[in-house]
Amino acid sequence: MIDSYGRNINYLRISITDLCNLRCRYCMPEKGITKIQRDQILRLEEIYELAKIFVSLGVNKVRITGGEPLIRKGILNLIENVGKLNGIKDFAMTTNGILLKKYAGNLRSAGLNRVNVSLDTLDEKKYHDITRGGCLKDVLEGIEEARKVGLAPIKLNTVLIGGFNDSEIESFVNLTKYEKIDVRFIELMPIGQTKDWSLNKFISNKTVLEKVKELKEVTKEDVSSPANYYKLPGGEGRVGLISPVSHKFCKNCNRVRLTADGKVKRCLLSNDEIDLRSALRNGEDLREIIVNLIKNKPKEHDLENGKYIKRNMTAIGG
Ligand code: 5AD
Ligand code: SF4
Repeated sequence: MIDSYGRNINYLRISITDLCNLRCRYCMPEKGITKIQRDQILRLEEIYELAKIFVSLGVNKVRITGGEPLIRKGILNLIENVGKLNGIKDFAMTTNGILLKKYAGNLRSAGLNRVNVSLDTLDEKKYHDITRGGCLKDVLEGIEEARKVGLAPIKLNTVLIGGFNDSEIESFVNLTKYEKIDVRFIELMPIGQTKDWSLNKFISNKTVLEKVKELKEVTKEDVSSPANYYKLPGGEGRVGLISPVSHKFCKNCNRVRLTADGKVKRCLLSNDEIDLRSALRNGEDLREIIVNLIKNKPKEHDLENGKYIKRNMTAIGG
C-alpha cells in the first residue's frame, strides 16, 4: 500500500494487550496505568481477522507487541495463525523477556522468526528499580533460550535514561564485540501518563557516539529502519541509534500500529487514531477503510510544537 507521500506501508505492529508484568518507570506511573476496559480490547480472533486483511493488502512484516505480549492467554495460537498468513516475510515480537525462557521454543515452533528484548540496564539492582520489581536473571536466561532455539537475530532495546544508564553505555556496546546481537539505544519519548518523568531524564543519542569514539557507521540494509547502525572495529554485532526526538525519520516511515483496543495509529508520535474495532464489529468494509487510512498517513510527527501523546505506551507497543 502506497501512501500519498510515496511511502510503501508494508509493516504492521500489533499491540495485543495494554497489560504488563513489569512497571518500568518511564512507561507506567507508580499506581499503574489507567487500564483500557476489557470489552474494548480486541479478541484474538479479531486481531487475526485484521492482520489477515492488512497482509492481503500488502503488509509483509508483522510485529507483536504489548504491554507484554507473552502474558496474553492464547498467544501461541495467534502466533501460529498469523505466521501462516500468505505473504509474511518477517514475523517478530517485542518482549521484556521475563517469560521468554518458558516461551522461546514454542514461539519458534509456532512460526515466529525473531524477538527484540527490552533491557535498560545490566545491573540486577538497577533492573529491579527501573522495572519496579523485575528480575534481571529471568531476562538474561530468556535471551539465552531465544538464542538457543534460533529466534534470531536478537535485538536489545535500551532506552537511554539520563542519570540512570548513561554510565552503562560502554558495557552495552561491548555486548556487540563477540556476539551477533544488535544493541539499539532508543531516545526517551515523552508519552502518556509518564511524560513529565521522561522529559526530565532525556539524553540525546549523540552521547553514545561521544562516549564510544571507535564506533563507525555502517550502511543500513533496510532504509525504513528507524535505527542508524554502527559497529566496533571487528565487532560481531551492531549498535543501533533510534533517535525519534532528535532526528525525524518520517520520510522513510513504512509502518502503522494497531493498538490493543483496535485503533490504528498512523504515526507513533501523533494523537491521530482510526477506530477499526467499531468498523469490524459493525461489519463495515475494512479493506476500503484500511486503504484510505494508509493513503492519508500524515507526512511527519509534530513533537516540536509541544504536542504530547496522550495514549500510554503500554497500549501502543513502541
Ligand atoms: N520512550 C522510548 N522508548 C520507550 N519504550 C517504552 N516507553 C518508551 C518511551 N517513553 C520502549 C520499551 C520497548 C519498546 C517497545 O519501547 O523499552 O523496548
Ligand atoms: Fe512493561 Fe515494556 Fe512498559 Fe516496561 S516498558 S512496563 S516492560 S510495557
